[in-house]
Amino acid sequence: PELFQPERVNSRGWDLAHRPTLAEIDAARAPFATHQWQAAPLLAGKAAPREAVPVTNPALPSETVGAVAFASPADCETALDTARPWQASAAERGAILNKAADLYEANYGEIFALVAREAGKSLPDAVAELREAVDFLRYYAANAPEDAPVGTFTCISPWNFPLAIFTGQVSAALAAGNAVLAKPAEQTGLIACRAVELLHEAGVPRDVLQCLPGAGDVGAALTSDPRVGGVAFTGSTETALKIRRSMADTLAPGAPLIAETGGLNAMIVDSTALPEQAVQAIVESAFQSAGQRCSALRCLYVQRDIAGPFIEMLTGAMEALQPGLPWQLSTDLGPVIDAEAHEGIATYVAKAKSEGRVIKQISVPKTGHFIPPTLLRVSGIEEMDREIFGPVLHFATFEADQLDQVIDTINATGYGLTFGLHTRIDDRVQHVSERIHAGNIYVNRNQIGAIVGSQPFGGEGLSGTGPKAGGPNYLARYSSHPAPLASE
Ligand code: NAD
Ligand code: ALA
Repeated sequence: PELFQPERVNSRGWDLAHRPTLAEIDAARAPFATHQWQAAPLLAGKAAPREAVPVTNPALPSETVGAVAFASPADCETALDTARPWQASAAERGAILNKAADLYEANYGEIFALVAREAGKSLPDAVAELREAVDFLRYYAANAPEDAPVGTFTCISPWNFPLAIFTGQVSAALAAGNAVLAKPAEQTGLIACRAVELLHEAGVPRDVLQCLPGAGDVGAALTSDPRVGGVAFTGSTETALKIRRSMADTLAPGAPLIAETGGLNAMIVDSTALPEQAVQAIVESAFQSAGQRCSALRCLYVQRDIAGPFIEMLTGAMEALQPGLPWQLSTDLGPVIDAEAHEGIATYVAKAKSEGRVIKQISVPKTGHFIPPTLLRVSGIEEMDREIFGPVLHFATFEADQLDQVIDTINATGYGLTFGLHTRIDDRVQHVSERIHAGNIYVNRNQIGAIVGSQPFGGEGLSGTGPKAGGPNYLARYSSHPAPLASE
C-alpha cells in the first residue's frame, strides 16, 4: 500500500475556534455531564458475574463516572475458547470498520464527555483522541488485506490514548481478519467497552471481537496461552519485556509481538532557531495532554549562547498555560491519570525542588490529581534514569561545538521514539537526522500528534519493535503472509 491514498480522507475533526461548533459540542456532551457508565467483559460466551469497581474522575476524585467489572480467569478461558477469526472478505471488513468510524463520530458528545471524565482529557485532547481513532479505523479499513489472519490477536493498550490507541490496535487486527481479545488499561475500561459496543453495533461479530477489562493479570493470562497467535502491546518498556518473556515460553516461536513503548524524548534548539516558533513547539510538546504522551518532550537542549533570553521566553509562555478542569473550554491541560501517577511525579519534582533545580512552576487546581507544569534544570539527559510521564520538562544547555556529543548522549539512553530539532541551517538538519536514533524526527515544529496515514508513528530500541502505527507496513505484522514492506 502507498502512504498517500487519495481515496481516503482523515477525519475533519471539530474546529474549536468556531463558536457555533463549540455550542454544538456543549449541547452534545451535556446529557453526559453526570452520566454513570457501566461496563463488564464483552464476550462471545457468558461472563462470570463479578463485582464492579467504581471509576472516579481524575480531576474531581470525589465524583464517580461509573463502574467496571474486571474479567475473571474464567472469562479469559471463555474468550480464548470462543474466539474465531473473521469470516468476511477484506471489502466487508473494511465496510464494517468504516461504519464504526461513522458511529464513533456520530457519538462525539458522549465520547468527549467520557474521555474528559474518565481520562482527564481537555477538549482539544478529546478532539485529537477521537480524530485519531477514526483515522485508524478508516486507514486500516482502506488497506484491509485479503485472507491471511494470524488467528487470535491479543491487543493490550495504555490509558493515555484510551480510545485512539485502543482502536488503532484493535482495528488493525480486525482489518487483517483476526479474532481479537482486547485488554484495555485498568484506568480506562469504560471508554474501551463503549468503543467495543460501537464496533459490535457496526457489525463486527461478538466472537471476532471480545473485550476483557482488567489489570495486568488479565493481560498476562491473554499473552501466555498457546491459543493466542500474536500480541499487540502499547505501554511501558518494562511491561513489554515481561510480555516478550512470557510469549517466548508459551506461544508459537513465530508469534508476532508488536510493542510500542516508552521514550526519553529530546529536542535540540540551536542559536539560529526562530525562538517564538521553538517556544510554542516546546510548550505544546512538553505540556499538552499534561505531558502524558509517549511522544512528549522530556529533555530540551538549548545552545548556551541564547539560553538566557530563551528561558525568559519559555517561562513567560508557561505562565500563559491554563491548567484546569478538563470539561472547561479554557483548559489547556488537565490532571494526571490517578493518585499513583500523581504521587510518583510529585515525589520526583519535590526532590528536584529540594536540590534547587526548579526553574518554573505553574499553579494548578487543588481538586484532583494535578501536577504543576514544571521546568527543571539538568546537566543532560543522562541524569534521567526513567521516563517521567507528566508535565515535567528538563532543561539543559550545550556549547556550539558539543552538538554531536549531545546527540550521542541522547542515543545512549537506548530509547528512540520522537526527537525535535529547531535550526535554520539546512546541512544541520541533514546531519542531525542521520545521526540521531529516533522513530519520528520533527524539524522546526512540535514533536507530538503524528497524523495517521501521513506520519507513521513508532520508535526503535527501547521504544518499540515497529512497524509504525498508521503506516503502510503496520498491517503486515497482523497477517501470516504479509505483502512486501514499503518505505516509511
Ligand atoms: P503499562 O505498561 O503499565 O500498562 C499498559 C498495559 O499493559 C495496561 O493495559 C496494563 O494493564 C497491561 N499490563 C500490565 N502488566 C501486564 C502484564 N504482565 N502482562 C500483560 N499486560 C500487562 O503502561 P501505562 O502506564 O498504561 O502507559 C504508559 C506507558 O505507555 C508510557 O511508558 C508511555 O510512553 C507508553 N506509551 C507508548 C506509546 C507508543 O506508541 N510508543 C503510546 C502510548 C503510551
Ligand atoms: N501518536 C501520538 C503522538 O504522536 C502518541 O503524540
